[in-house]
Amino acid sequence: MSTQTVLNDLLEECWITTDGEKMSSGFDREHFEITHSLTEHPLLQIPELMELADRTKKTRPAGIYYDAGNIRVDQRWDQMPEKQFSVVETMKRIETCGAWLLFKDVQKDPQYKAFLGSGWEKIKAKIGNNLQTRILREDALIFVTSPKRIATYHIDRECSFLLQIKGTKTIHIFDRADREVLPEEEIERFWTVDNNAPVYKPQFQGRATSYTLRPGNGVHIPVNCPHWVENDDNVSVSLNVNVQFIDTIRANTYRANHALRTLGLTPRPPGQSPAVDFLKSRSMVPVVAAKAALHKLASLRKSS
Ligand SMILES: [Fe+2]
Repeated sequence: MSTQTVLNDLLEECWITTDGEKMSSGFDREHFEITHSLTEHPLLQIPELMELADRTKKTRPAGIYYDAGNIRVDQRWDQMPEKQFSVVETMKRIETCGAWLLFKDVQKDPQYKAFLGSGWEKIKAKIGNNLQTRILREDALIFVTSPKRIATYHIDRECSFLLQIKGTKTIHIFDRADREVLPEEEIERFWTVDNNAPVYKPQFQGRATSYTLRPGNGVHIPVNCPHWVENDDNVSVSLNVNVQFIDTIRANTYRANHALRTLGLTPRPPGQSPAVDFLKSRSMVPVVAAKAALHKLASLRKSS
């Protein structure tokens, strides 16, 4: 066995090094700082990521998103500047072009599949609590960011571990239960019609917990926690491992509440009554199924 192989095995053995008790008790309940041992992993270095960008563009073009420019914290994702360069050229110019690159579903790349798959197994083993039975899907993202670039304010459907690999940056995370920061209506719109529904409110910035990320640490971000990121004056690389839950009741309750609110009613937020949540969720099943069927029909028509 080569020295490099042994080194890789050791690196993959560790992954997140945070205490298992903290991982288990805090998972999807609170945001908290974590530590990891992946900083030197060969697959997470810039030269390998250049190759990943080229390979992804050729084989899985939907697996990479990028934009570049002066971005505000409250900028909507559908109002990003026009792209100036190809993805590979953007990677080459990463020091100066103000870019934010997102490699999606990196576990689908054959060279990353085993590494990321074993990582998730280790994380799940640390968390315990029969986590596997609640999971809809696992995935991994890699962010590559130019100096001083901002990642805009948003919430996610996924529960994530953001691991800082290269460079330093600050992530600001808000309390998902603070209804002044994140009103119920914004959550409902997010889960129903608008991925950009949460609105940044600068007057509440002081309520955020700000974590300084550096190689070797990271944060756990529960579902629905608003956050935004400021990169320091350096190129940043971060690995984000995500899990999306089988949370049909939560998602459908938000959808039902969105529908009720458009009728002028003030619906009860999810979590206050499991029976009401269940009824609301059941009421949305045919709606969601019809939407999925229409979406499938539209895609079949496009391809036929
Ligand atoms: Fe996020």
